Parts: sequence; C-alpha cells; structure tokens
Amino acid sequence: MKPAEKKLSKFPELITALPGPKAKAIVDRDNRVISPSYTRDYPLVAKAGRGVIVEDVDGNTFLDFAAGIAVVAAGHCHPQVVAAIQRQSAELIHMSSTDFYYPGMVELAEKLAAVAPGKSPKRVYFGNSGTEAIEAAMKLARYHTRRDKFIAFHGCFHGRTFGSLSLTASKAVQRKHFGALLGGVFHTPYPDSYRGAYGVRPEHAAADALAHIERELFKRLVDPEDVAAIFIEPIQGEGGYIPAPAEFLQGLEKLCRRHGILLAVDEVQSGMGRTGKWWACDHAGIEPDIICTAKGIASGMPLAAAIAKADVMDWKPGAHASTFGGNPVAVAASLATLDLLERELMANAARVGEFIFRHTADWGEKHKFVGDIRGKGLMIGIEFVRDKETKERAPEIRSQVIQAAFHKGLLVLGAGENTLRLAPPLIIDEEQAEFALRTLDACISEIESSN
Ligand SMILES: Cc1ncc(COP(=O)(O)O)c(C=O)c1O
Repeated sequence: MKPAEKKLSKFPELITALPGPKAKAIVDRDNRVISPSYTRDYPLVAKAGRGVIVEDVDGNTFLDFAAGIAVVAAGHCHPQVVAAIQRQSAELIHMSSTDFYYPGMVELAEKLAAVAPGKSPKRVYFGNSGTEAIEAAMKLARYHTRRDKFIAFHGCFHGRTFGSLSLTASKAVQRKHFGALLGGVFHTPYPDSYRGAYGVRPEHAAADALAHIERELFKRLVDPEDVAAIFIEPIQGEGGYIPAPAEFLQGLEKLCRRHGILLAVDEVQSGMGRTGKWWACDHAGIEPDIICTAKGIASGMPLAAAIAKADVMDWKPGAHASTFGGNPVAVAASLATLDLLERELMANAARVGEFIFRHTADWGEKHKFVGDIRGKGLMIGIEFVRDKETKERAPEIRSQVIQAAFHKGLLVLGAGENTLRLAPPLIIDEEQAEFALRTLDACISEIESSN
C-alpha cells in the first residue's frame, strides 16, 4: 500500500524497541553525512504522516505533539493540502515572483492582509523561511525609517542568518564562533510573568520590562530617534513558550508610537491560528507595523511572509526580493491551510487548548518538578524546576520526560533551558489530547519517583 493510501490509527503503536533496526541504520548513515549542527533529542526516523500520527521506517507510529516544530498546522498530509499541492504542481511549479506575476500569490497576500491585526491597509512580502521574513522586516524597518538601530528581547529567537541572529538572544551556542554580528542591536529583558523581567517581581514583569527600555536603554545606550524597530515574539517560542502579558504588548505599542519606532512582531511560531486566534498579538488587541510569519503558514511547505502596513512597505523596485519567495506550490498549500484554519482549526486550537489547561490545572500541586504551565491555544509550555520556591531550573528532568515520552510513542520537544513544549497540529481532538496528557503525567510521575 502506498503511504498516501495507508490509514493510520488515531493513537500510537510501538512494534519494535526504539530505535528499530531500519531507524538505527538511517541514523548511522545520517551521522556520517549530514551537518552535525542539528540537535536531535531522540532517533525518530519519519517515513509517513497522517493527521497527528507519524509513522517511522520500522512501522512504529507516534502521536505528534511537535508538528515539525509547530509547522504542520493542518496535520500531516491533510487531504485538502495534498490535493492543492498536487493540483498546483501539475500546473505550474515556478516562474519567480521577482519577475512575473502569480494569481495565487496575490490571493494569499489579500487574505493575509485581511486577517492581519488592525484596520490599516497592508502589503505582503513573501520569503521561504522564518529567518527570511525577519531579514525582510529588518531591512524594511531601516529603509522606511532611515534609522539603523534595533531593540530585541533576552530569550527571543528570530532565526540564524546574520541579521536575524543579531536579534536572537536565546542560546549562546547559536552565536558562538560566528564573530561580529550586526551592530546597533540592543537587548532588553523579556516580561516573563513566571520569573519576572529581572528574575524577581514576576507580578511586575510587564511594568519592569517597559521601564527598562525607557529608563535604561533610552537614557544610557541608544537615543530612541535612532531606533528603527523593536522586534518581539508575543509568545517566546524557542526561549521557553513564555507569553508576554497583554498589558506589556499594549505598553510597547504606545512606546513605539511615542518615539516613531516600528513595532515588528515575530509570529513565526505563534501565528497562523496556533493560539486560537490568527495571531498571538490579537489577544492583546494591538496593531504591529510589521508581522513576520512562516512555520504553520503552509502546513509544511516552505513559505514565509512579512506583512506590513502599506505606508510602511514603501521600498522601491529592486530593494528586496527572493527567487523562490511566494512559490506557487507553497502558496497553494497555504491557501488550503488558511481555509482550514478559518473554517475549523483555529476554533479547535482554542477549544483543545482549554481542554489541556483544564486537565493540567492540578499538575503544579501534584508534580513536584512542574513549576509552571502557560501559553495560549495549542502553544503550551510546561516548565520543570527543582524547587518551586527558588525556581531552580531542571533541564535534566525536562530531558528525561522527553525521552520517556518518545519511548511511549509521544513526540514532544523542549523549548528554552527547562521547558517542554506542546505544539501539536491544530486538528488534534480531545481524545488525542487526553492520551498525550495521560502519557506525560505517567512519564513525569515515573521520573519524580526516581529523582
Ligand atoms: C519565533 C521564530 N522566529 C524565527 C524563526 C526562524 O525560522 P526558520 O527556522 O524558518 O528560519 C523561528 C524558528 O524556530 C522562530 O521560532
């Protein structure tokens, strides 16, 4: 049976020890030929995917709570997305939007402009990955404002190319040995309402983080008139699934307006319906000047967009472009994804997200290492600590939970130093969520009893 025809069950089933023989052989070959810069936590060798289920090369199936790093929004190989890809790839794969026009690209841009926050008219630039959307936003911000400085937040991740890496302040290993990055980027504390902006006063995280920009950065390091844009993830992704409080984002928007600074919101991980609304920043009711999106936008096809207020996206022909950006096949997958999001998946993300929060509400009391459970919709972080008073981080407990979950058929990823992220496809149902929670609950209990 061809993989596309095979029906996979809703729940995982393990039929070999992990990794199985075929998976082990691929991992061995991978170790010899693939760039060693990747960080694989466990040896999943994927062969097929349907919905929330992934099948490995040995025939084991897993429940996917990682979704290819929050990418397969509509689930693996959703029939509507597959049909759109098949249809488009039989008709036209590439011409290049830098020199020619594509109908689908216009339709998608109109759609993204319509669902972007706020009422101002928008324009859209298409790239192929999150980092490209961020690079475009950085260049656009400089171009439009004729200012050259940027502000970004401790813990945030914006990508790995030189511009976006200069904003990224997530893990030192991501910068180590890469030499000088872009000058004129200033980092400031993120409003972490579990730990506080400075690791204290969590209840004042929003006010402290805002005050730092005005009282420290603007007084001592950079004049606000030199700042082109402030970049922020409304929910920190790679940094640990940490939501910025709504009042912080509202305050940041006002601060930007006061100083003529552009507010650039990185929704590469948090956007596209994952939080139960189109954008995580919709929960705060703000209107950024630029929104960057990628990951979930096309359910697995490479596509990214920087969506800006039309009067901000004022660069001239030749200023910026990409050969592949807005590729017709990726665009077709994206139009199908957006249709599914609008019709059912965004509401499902909100509903199943609430279900997960309800069913984990007592984990903080019940589990000695669970310090915090937070997030929105299906972007949920579980932070592990050694001690709930001191909040000493417990990265080793988090890693043990990830390993144990894999060996029970549940795929999860870490985020930040000591947080586990739940980022399943948005098509997940309550039974699958319950299965995942039961599995995690059991893994955490086992690890607690042996630590
Ligand atoms: C918030 C955020 N911005 C940017 C990126 C970079 O995206 P990409 O890996 O597609 O370049 C990521 C990737 O994890 C991300 O989470």
